[in-house]
Amino acid sequence: MASHIEPDYKLRNVDFPKYFSQLSKIYDRQTGGTTRTNFAQLLPHIDPPIISSSIIHDNASGPGTASSVILTQANSQPPKISGTDSVPDMITAFRDNITKNSWTTVTASVMDSHHLQFPENTFTHSITNFSIFTFKDDVEAMKEVYRTLQPNGVAVVTTWKHFGVTGIIHTVQRAIRPDLPLMQQPNSGRFVMDSDTYLRLVMAKAGFEEAKMELVQKDLFANGEAADGVVEFMSGGFFEKAREGYTEEEKGKWEGEVRKAVERETEDYGGLRMHMWAVLARK
Ligand SMILES: C[S@@+](CC[C@H](N)C(=O)[O-])C[C@H]1O[C@@H](n2cnc3c(N)ncnc32)[C@H](O)[C@@H]1O
Repeated sequence: MASHIEPDYKLRNVDFPKYFSQLSKIYDRQTGGTTRTNFAQLLPHIDPPIISSSIIHDNASGPGTASSVILTQANSQPPKISGTDSVPDMITAFRDNITKNSWTTVTASVMDSHHLQFPENTFTHSITNFSIFTFKDDVEAMKEVYRTLQPNGVAVVTTWKHFGVTGIIHTVQRAIRPDLPLMQQPNSGRFVMDSDTYLRLVMAKAGFEEAKMELVQKDLFANGEAADGVVEFMSGGFFEKAREGYTEEEKGKWEGEVRKAVERETEDYGGLRMHMWAVLARK
C-alpha cells in the first residue's frame, strides 16, 4: 500500500485545547451541525449495526455529537455509551447534554485518546468522528481504538473530504487583501483528504487488516441555519490569523465578504460543501 502520506505537524501552531474549550458551548451551532449530520448519514452503513446491547465508545466526543445521533435514533432500550474528550469544557458540555436529554446509559469523562483508560476488548463500536486530524499521533490513538475494541468490534473513523470553509476563507482573503499570504490549515497534511488512502494507511498502521475495512464517502451541502452557524465560525477567533496585517476598516469587511462567498457557493453547489470520508474497520 502507498505510504507517502505522513502527518505534517509543522503547522501545529493552533492552540487546539484552548480553541476547543472556547467552542464547547457553541459547538453545534458553529459547526452548522455538519459533524452530526455527516455521522447521521453514516449510521445506516455501520455493520454490525448499533443495537441495545452494543457497548460504544464516543472517542474525542466533543459535546457528544455522535452519541446524540445514536440516542435520537435508538428505540426504548438505548445502548451503553462512554464518551471521552481531553478538553474538560467539552466534557462539561457533554454532561449538560446528558442531563438535559435524560440519557441514562451514557457517561462522559475527560480522557486523552492516546492513553485510553479502558481495558482491552471493551467495546463493540468505537467512534472517532471528525477528531483524528487533531491528534498529535493519529496512529497511536488508533492503536488505542484497536486495543479497546472487542474481537469483531467495529471502529468508525471520519474525516473531511471537502472542507468548504477553506475555500471561503481564501476567497475572502483574496477579495480584501490579495497581497497578503493565504492562511494555511492547521495539520494541513491530514485535515482534508483527496483520497481514501490516509484513513486506510493510519488504520493499517494501527493494526486493522485492510481486508476488513470499508471506505464510505458522503456529500453534505450546508445551507440555511447550518450555513449561518459556519459563517459565525469563519468570522470568529479561529480565523484571526487570516486577518493578520488588516486595518480596522478591512477587518470590518470580513463578515460581509464571508456571507457573499457562502451565497456564491450556495448558488453554485446548493450549499457549503462539507463532504466526508469514513472508514469502518473491523477488529
Ligand atoms: C472537531 S471536534 C469533533 C467532536 C465530535 N467528535 C464531533 O463529532 O463533532 C474534535 C474533538 O477532539 C478533541 N480532542 C483533540 N485531541 C484530543 C485528544 N488527544 N484526546 C481526546 N480528545 C481530543 C477536541 O477536544 C474536540 O472535542
